[in-house]
Amino acid sequence: MIEDLWYKNAVVYCLDVETFMDGNGDGVGDFVGLRRKLDYLAGLGVTCVWLMPFQPTPNRDNGYDIRDYYGVDPRLGDLGDFVAFTHEAKLHGIRVIIDLVVNHTSDQHPWFQSARKGPDSPFHDYYVWAKKKPKDAHKGMVFPGVQPSTWTYVKEAGGWYFHRFFDFQPDLNVANPEVREQILKVMGYWLELGVSGFRVDAVPFLVELKGLKNHGVEDPYGFLKEMREFLSWRKGDAILLAEANVTMDEVMEFFGDNDRMQLVFNFLANQNFYLSLTRGDATPLIQALKASPDLPHTAQWANFLRNHDELDLGRLSDKDRAEVFQALGPDKGMQLYDRGLRRRFASMLDGDRRRIELAYSLMFTLPGTPVLWYGDELGMGENLALKERQAVRTPMQWSPERHGGFTLAQTPVKPLVEEGAFGFAQVNVAQQRCDPTSQLNWTERIIRARKECPELGWGAWRILRTGNKGVMALRYDWKGNAMVVLHNLSARPCTVKLDPGGDEACPLYNVLTEDHSEPVDGQRHTLTLEGYGYRWFRVGHQNPARKHKVEPRP
Ligand code: GLC
Repeated sequence: MIEDLWYKNAVVYCLDVETFMDGNGDGVGDFVGLRRKLDYLAGLGVTCVWLMPFQPTPNRDNGYDIRDYYGVDPRLGDLGDFVAFTHEAKLHGIRVIIDLVVNHTSDQHPWFQSARKGPDSPFHDYYVWAKKKPKDAHKGMVFPGVQPSTWTYVKEAGGWYFHRFFDFQPDLNVANPEVREQILKVMGYWLELGVSGFRVDAVPFLVELKGLKNHGVEDPYGFLKEMREFLSWRKGDAILLAEANVTMDEVMEFFGDNDRMQLVFNFLANQNFYLSLTRGDATPLIQALKASPDLPHTAQWANFLRNHDELDLGRLSDKDRAEVFQALGPDKGMQLYDRGLRRRFASMLDGDRRRIELAYSLMFTLPGTPVLWYGDELGMGENLALKERQAVRTPMQWSPERHGGFTLAQTPVKPLVEEGAFGFAQVNVAQQRCDPTSQLNWTERIIRARKECPELGWGAWRILRTGNKGVMALRYDWKGNAMVVLHNLSARPCTVKLDPGGDEACPLYNVLTEDHSEPVDGQRHTLTLEGYGYRWFRVGHQNPARKHKVEPRP
């Protein structure tokens, strides 16, 4: 069994180079600025940075519309800056993964520019075409309200092309073996330049073969296996992290049997977490975890609270979603695409530190690998004056100086959050660094704890009974060590009687404070949690090394 799967115990931090740090004073974040902030990231304790798309782009969907897979957008630097960054990240013990956006290209990509000239173009079949307007042209839009259709007519080509997303993002025809080869070539290129893998964009759409001239391809998921084979051959420890907002019935198609994606974001747990948080009732989250299938050895969930998109609640029932909207984003202007909220986490909770800590503590201890969205370690808020998802993509707030210390230029690439309790004068790195009680320092401590508890990333987990629906308790077992974590999602303090499981009565050692617990009633513990309280316990031993047996060599 392979025991050095680094991603099982990683802490991933997602950022957009454009909005992280401007190194050359032109108002746009860049690789030079990001490189200077590696000490910050290392100090926070993150072990892997996920870079959002930075390749040359018309930038009509925040870079998710790529014009050239083999470059760096000139606003952000050049390939040399990229390599200098990945190299220095490695020296800081930080791996780099990048977005792989190959469901579609930009309409400005030379392939599409050629393809749109008509069927004689050698690139025509790189995309998905129909001679007649498809009946479902006004169905299946990912951005309802702002995206009118999924097929667009090109006069020159005499046909319609398919685009699951905006019309400037034509879908690649992944059934075409040439396209598959091109995608693998892109992966190989960035692996050679030092990345440790990819966050694969829009995977369910990437594998959808609907309406395609399918070149005899029958298994839509077969390409995921090809990608994994190629990846692992070129770089043994590289990973694929899938953006796949799918049901639990489908998810194994994405994980495969140790032969497709190593990581898949747990969208179901994410959405049910918000329902649990809203209700102060752990039941929806517990149900989502119970629905999750057993994963093969190399597979792992990726957990997140927020990301760069809207908080997508599309998998909740209309009634449940309305309940979360009412609590966390009641104004129409906070809602997006009929399914989500365009808000940051801290502002959704009005900056309530107790609930913010509870939520992040929970995210760091759910089965899987935690993924943070930049700025959330400070409790940044959104700028609702910006369009759609841009609201949560404002520049990083480094200090109370002009433009939050992000740039020395007159005009930053995107306006910062200036006003109110979440403005950069109130919420910034410089001030929080000096305050031991700040959210930044709390996050640093919780990351340290998470890294020191490998049981959480590796262990076999189960849900323990607490007899209180506000409280979720999980037990993890790994290599003879065990942990128990408890989270009270409700505002009410409570006392629970907990059997931590295992064969014998034993103490529970608190990992975060000195508030340990002795069994009182056989194996059972009486644990008192404040409203929104959380506990991380080691079972039986304070120092896990004591139970880890090293077999003598024969
Ligand atoms: C993914 C990204 C999103 C982007 C879309 C199209 O869902 O997360 O930001 O707009 O793909 O590439």
